[in-house]
Amino acid sequence: MSSRQPLPTVTPFFADKQERLSEILARYPEYGRRSALMPLLWEVQRAERHVSEARVEEIAEILGLHATEVKGVMSFYGTYHEHPVGRYHLQVCRTLSCSLAGADTLADFLEDELDLVNGETDPEGRFSLQYVECLGSCGTAPVLQVNDTYFERVSRSRCRALLDAMRRDTLPEPTLERGGDNEPNAPDQEGGAA
Ligand code: FES
Repeated sequence: MSSRQPLPTVTPFFADKQERLSEILARYPEYGRRSALMPLLWEVQRAERHVSEARVEEIAEILGLHATEVKGVMSFYGTYHEHPVGRYHLQVCRTLSCSLAGADTLADFLEDELDLVNGETDPEGRFSLQYVECLGSCGTAPVLQVNDTYFERVSRSRCRALLDAMRRDTLPEPTLERGGDNEPNAPDQEGGAA
């Protein structure tokens, strides 16, 4: 008598999201349907914090692509993850402007605080850390992106306050500095990630 276990079945992600799927596909003409690839990947990742093999296959089938083509796009853009990232995915820009403004110190601080290195997720699934290239906000370096939100001119004290908030499962209003310094009296503004 065989003791073989049945293979687990995975409910398709879009099975109960047909309306959303149709809305995304309708943005593109039939001949350009593959253009929906990134929005579909993003839809899955936003909900599941990664795009699993099963979801890759599903999206490939929807768009009439090979799974390898979907994976090719995922690997080209660092924004897609094959494995789950934390509820708070911390992306530290380490390109030149941010590096000069203290991003390396900020990265060291985060590694120590979270006991993570680049690419890791903590066992609770709360935090993950990733080093990234220029986030396009060089004038307000150093920049830390948490999920979809930018935090700019992130000093060590700001970063500590941010981590404390996320440990309480709250995400503060972003420190957006493009219109000018919003903490003019902060003691560590001069030194970046001091
Ligand atoms: S160098 Fe960091 S945002 Fe451009």
